[in-house]
Amino acid sequence: MGLLAELTHRCPLQCPYCSNPLGLEGAGTELDTGTWQDVLRQAARLGVLQLHLSGGEPTVRRDLEDIVATAAEAGLYTNLITAGVLLNRSRLEELAVRGLEHVQLSIQDVDPVNADRIAHYDGAHRKKRELCGLVREIGLALTINAPVHRQNLDRLDGIIDFAVEMGAGRLEVAHVQYYGWALANRAALMPTRAQVMRSMQIVQQARERLRGILVIDFVVPDYYATWPKPCMGGWGRGIINVTPSGKVLPCHAAETIPGLIFDNVRDKPLAEIWLHGQAFEKFRGTEWMIEPCRSCERREIDWGGCRCQAFAIAGNAAAADPACVKSSRHEELVALAEREASRPPPAFSYRRPRKPTSPGAGTPDKAPAEGP
Ligand code: SF4
Ligand code: FES
Repeated sequence: MGLLAELTHRCPLQCPYCSNPLGLEGAGTELDTGTWQDVLRQAARLGVLQLHLSGGEPTVRRDLEDIVATAAEAGLYTNLITAGVLLNRSRLEELAVRGLEHVQLSIQDVDPVNADRIAHYDGAHRKKRELCGLVREIGLALTINAPVHRQNLDRLDGIIDFAVEMGAGRLEVAHVQYYGWALANRAALMPTRAQVMRSMQIVQQARERLRGILVIDFVVPDYYATWPKPCMGGWGRGIINVTPSGKVLPCHAAETIPGLIFDNVRDKPLAEIWLHGQAFEKFRGTEWMIEPCRSCERREIDWGGCRCQAFAIAGNAAAADPACVKSSRHEELVALAEREASRPPPAFSYRRPRKPTSPGAGTPDKAPAEGP
């Protein structure tokens, strides 16, 4: 089991595909150190093995070292998911001493100008490059996470080369999934079918070429798929998401689905929420399914796909994910993707809206980092 701990929604970057909700939780609502530590101990007792410290940008929390130390004491394998721009050597060394084992660094592109434009943060890519060197020097495991879309996908070869050069053990090539800010920016991000096909070929060839050097995970783009992905490994099956204010979600986008009740770790034990919370029970297993999922031979393979996407596109979270070829909305979804991909991309709507930036318009002003 894994726990995704969104320590904060604050972030110095403003990526237009951010999976945080459009209504970001402010610093004043965040759980304090002691509550997070208690949540981690509860998680370990519940059987959680892997802790993903996420955000926003988790390093804006000045108590991150204490949170990491508690996770290590509780026996959790701790992965820091970071944009990397706020970390320096001394802080990273201290995190390693306190028990951090793995760093997952996101990159926006390998072209520095385009990377900084997507992140809306001047100098971000240079800092990420420096951080990779530090991670390897300190001896932590490194994964590079590369969300890909129409505005960086043509440099996928370069992204793979970058991961090898940086000494990463794993690269996640993740086609953007359209929830949260990514849904709001879908027309600016949607790749063409030709780009997608080419990316699959590049990943396949790189996996063969780099066997034993780099593991490449590949998240396929839903809108051009035949079958949906088992989103979150199935609702309420192995992932718990705790928001900065302590709400416990079956997935990071679950708040987009109306009618779900999200319990809070301030009010109830984590185990009770996981086992009996209304939001978890609503779509756990297969009993909630309607046709075509109910009688489908793949229902325990993909668990009906993504509930959030089913609601966003079909207006019914219990419907088959429209990414599925059996969904009555599938052809509409594919047509929508092809239509959006064929038009010039609109300007990004950054996650903290500032002045819009047109594609190729150059490096934006630096976004100010927020302190806790
Ligand atoms: Fe999955 Fe439902 Fe499609 Fe079957 S019909 S493949 S269970 S989404
Ligand atoms: Fe919520 Fe897929 S993003 S179930």
